[in-house]
Amino acid sequence: MSNETANKIEVLDSLEPFIDKQTSLLLRPHSDWQVQDFIPDASALQFPFVAEEIRAEALRLPASVLIDVIGNTITEDGLPIFMYLVGMYIGATGSYKDFIKNPPVTVDQLGKTISTEEFTDLMGSKALGRWTLGWGAQENRHGKLSNRYLDLIPQINKREIARTVQKYIGAGFNPGVSDDIYATLFYPGWQELATQHSHSGVSWLGHQLGAPYLHRIAGAMGEEEGRHALFYVPLGREIFKADPAGAILSFARLVRDRVTMAGVEMEGFDMFAAASSFSGVYGIREYVAVFGRLIKEWNIEGLPVSGDAAKAQEQILRLHTILLRKANRAQTIENKTIESPWINTQSQIVLAGKGELVAG
Ligand SMILES: [Fe+2]
Ligand SMILES: [Fe+2]
Repeated sequence: MSNETANKIEVLDSLEPFIDKQTSLLLRPHSDWQVQDFIPDASALQFPFVAEEIRAEALRLPASVLIDVIGNTITEDGLPIFMYLVGMYIGATGSYKDFIKNPPVTVDQLGKTISTEEFTDLMGSKALGRWTLGWGAQENRHGKLSNRYLDLIPQINKREIARTVQKYIGAGFNPGVSDDIYATLFYPGWQELATQHSHSGVSWLGHQLGAPYLHRIAGAMGEEEGRHALFYVPLGREIFKADPAGAILSFARLVRDRVTMAGVEMEGFDMFAAASSFSGVYGIREYVAVFGRLIKEWNIEGLPVSGDAAKAQEQILRLHTILLRKANRAQTIENKTIESPWINTQSQIVLAGKGELVAG
């Protein structure tokens, strides 16, 4: 293990009391809604009525919104896997892809090799590990809830979606900073804010389009992503306070190449990104808003750093200014033609004007 990694692990260990407090505050059971609170089981008496209502509301949803919901669902389905990535770097070095390719994995943890069982024990013994497990369990419900809703929508191709999920999870995921513990923890901070935008945006659209089930479901998930952000963003702030130079170098590394959504490696991601940006739930404006919020929350501008860290600081702020200018110049998309195997139509889909589904 490098000195740099050892130092970062020490910083994270010193933050354990803070992480412990945050974990008990943010993972309280009262927030534990279940899928059945939104859509009953297929065996429930009221299920046929609810199913009919959902089928009817889904017919009012344009293709762009359906693609948003599907893309969000696939992303959610992959998140429990992402949890292992974060878990692995609780003091570990190694590659996530190796982890899934060569189970049972052994990782070089705190300078010694440990088995998967020992690894799970370690996850439980640290507050950061307990958070990561509890967080993964909540994300797991997001995928379940979204899937139950999708199952009731007639105009989408469920088999094709299932195939995409299988391929997506099977390929593994690497945000490109997996040898850097700080960046591995900054990344979900960004993602939680991004998915909060995305789910809440879909919830708002559901309300506007007369789809109350979608409104409630996406709203509950958006609220939970916001709560998750209340873990990762303040944790980032503490890391920045404890080790400003190390933290800023890691953050610069993360944002240098565009921070990608967790679903970037899914088949059809470009189509998903186009639909998200078309319906205004997550495009360049939202990307810059997340970036700007983290700059503010982590006091990037005011950090007293010098040398390489000062250069990184300058680079981050310059990048944000460039993107802000770009976002301000971005035009609202009037018309866009996409192909989507997720939607049941042989033809191309035109995301037109006010977002109606025009297939032709
Ligand atoms: Fe989620
Ligand atoms: Fe989340």
